[in-house]
Amino acid sequence: MATVTRSEGGIMKVQAKKVQVTDEIRQAVLAQLDNAVYYGGEQCFHFERELAAYVKAEHALALNSGTSALLVAAMAVGVRAGDEVLVPANVYDTSAEIPAFLGAVPIFCDVEADTANVTAETLAARLSPRTKAIILTHMYGHPADMDPIMEMARTHRLPVIEVCAHALGAEYKGRRVGAIADVGVFSLGSKNISVCGSGGAVSTNSTEKDREMELISRHGWPRVPIDESFFRMVPFADSPMAGMFPLERDPVRAGLNLQLDEIPCAVGRIGLRSLDEWNERRRYFARLYGSLLKDAMVPVRPLSLKPWALHSYLHYVVRAERRDALLHFLWERGIETRVHYPTLLPELRYYREHFPTSPDLYPVARQLNRDVLTLPVHPWLTDREVEYVVGRVAEFYHALR
Ligand SMILES: Cc1ncc(COP(=O)(O)O)c(C=O)c1O
Repeated sequence: MATVTRSEGGIMKVQAKKVQVTDEIRQAVLAQLDNAVYYGGEQCFHFERELAAYVKAEHALALNSGTSALLVAAMAVGVRAGDEVLVPANVYDTSAEIPAFLGAVPIFCDVEADTANVTAETLAARLSPRTKAIILTHMYGHPADMDPIMEMARTHRLPVIEVCAHALGAEYKGRRVGAIADVGVFSLGSKNISVCGSGGAVSTNSTEKDREMELISRHGWPRVPIDESFFRMVPFADSPMAGMFPLERDPVRAGLNLQLDEIPCAVGRIGLRSLDEWNERRRYFARLYGSLLKDAMVPVRPLSLKPWALHSYLHYVVRAERRDALLHFLWERGIETRVHYPTLLPELRYYREHFPTSPDLYPVARQLNRDVLTLPVHPWLTDREVEYVVGRVAEFYHALR
């Protein structure tokens, strides 16, 4: 792909993502380096509580990646070798890799064309007596239609994991995603709606599942109950080990160490405070794209926005005629467009070989896969950049006339 700068012959560089490192973030990182508590400390303690409060869930655990988060969630809801797990055909690799890693079978489900999400119907179409769980993704930041999905899942006694990697801050009928299904999973890395720069998290309203996920992710050591006063009374406060919250070092199960470090937790606490404002900016640019694309009269249609959805727009996704040629045309003009995701899960090599699935079982996902395109959206975009992108889209189609 061509590398371009703003000054090259009227070409603007429009990035898909940006991060903003404020002085507050710099200071927080330096303070953590000085204090030398690298994990399991005060920042993690507070970040978990603040994240749970943000999504309005009873509990949250900060973990070192979204993949670790989905692993502990799947184990905690009881996914075992030989089980079938329903997953959307069009999402990120983790949703298939975690069941497969646990010896279970990912069963790929179709999605609806409007939002690219699974529905109660597309999930029910792939139920079998071996189905053990549902792992769904709120695709691009648009919540799946959770009420009918949860009703169907309850009827069949299936736990549901909602992957909110695209959707931190999105709402379904006024409820934040992450607190609707049995477990919410977040990836906090900067390719997603980032508050940390890296990491992941789980959220749940079930104390039992929270405990199990904590044991899996922290060596199987039971927690010792503490409150924030603990950190003010630490003896040997200058010693790195002293500021770590206590766990009873006597495992009740085999576990792993999947905790999120203190530095990303400290950064995450700052990011959480700005998240609503950032998501509002994303929604503003989505509306601007929508109205400019409509006026441009081009064969490009944004995915739908359901009346009950508060979209977080990690991605602004359109369906476009001649998608691949358009993508190339936009890259050459400095616009960082992508396809999320270029290959459907059942068509990736490993899943094709080990879990062969007829393409007739996911026709809508296949159609979307041919024509979806992600246009740049992030909180620091400008109106001028959106106008430039839509201008280039119009130029592409007008040249074809
Ligand atoms: C879009 C997306 N990105 C990433 C991940 C995995 O997270 P990470 O990259 O933090 O391991 C997930 C988890 O399911 C996801 O859905």
